[in-house]
Amino acid sequence: MRNSIGEDEEAAGNERSATMKIRKFSQEDLPAILAIQEKLPQAPRWLEWDYASLAADPQGMLLVAELETMTPPKVLGFVAFRRVIDQAELYNLAVDPAHQEQGVGRALLEEARRRLLEAGAKRVFLEVRTSNKPALGLYSSIGFSLQALRKDYYREPREDAYVMRLELAPPNDRSA
Ligand SMILES: CC(C)(COP(=O)(O)OP(=O)(O)OC[C@H]1O[C@@H](n2cnc3c(N)ncnc32)[C@H](O)[C@@H]1OP(=O)(O)O)[C@@H](O)C(=O)NCCC(=O)NCCS
Repeated sequence: MRNSIGEDEEAAGNERSATMKIRKFSQEDLPAILAIQEKLPQAPRWLEWDYASLAADPQGMLLVAELETMTPPKVLGFVAFRRVIDQAELYNLAVDPAHQEQGVGRALLEEARRRLLEAGAKRVFLEVRTSNKPALGLYSSIGFSLQALRKDYYREPREDAYVMRLELAPPNDRSA
């Protein structure tokens, strides 16, 4: 007999690293990523058009993490970057609350780092709310370091932002 969805998800969680795939966004992912965004007050309020246009932008990079053991595969989270020459900026990152703290965010950022380096990026910048401990923990553990504080950068609620920076290229390959 087939397991219930809850049992399927629990079993899949135990084999997360073996069954999670990070791949490029496709239009069919839109409902799933909008649904994840809706569950997360910390995530930017993007419209369908924002995702579609970033995915269509040659300098954009939109990746999704999916659980291959579900039928159809379930989208667990996504990450969005834009690269201009050798600098990239992280625009958006979100993991479904039901799948957080299971390595999905880390896997998305590690795959993004690999692809950005391959595309010629040397460093990545991002802004993050100073109260966002999970995101700060993740970014620090990936190797991002604090670069600056932007006072009152965010609205609703008003809050400062940390600017963080990650060097992608080896030290001897970081011209200007
Ligand atoms: C931030 C976010 C993407 C992290 O995704 P995740 O899949 O839960 O993260 P991971 O399981 O890959 O965790 C990787 C590391 O992040 C840190 N981390 C994750 N959740 C954490 C938490 N609740 N508290 C503190 N640190 C945390 C830890 O350093 C962790 O490493 P460890 O597992 O070795 O301890 C997720 O919490 C999220 O979607 N938050 C809402 C949206 C958001 O804030 N986006 C960022 C906007 S800048």
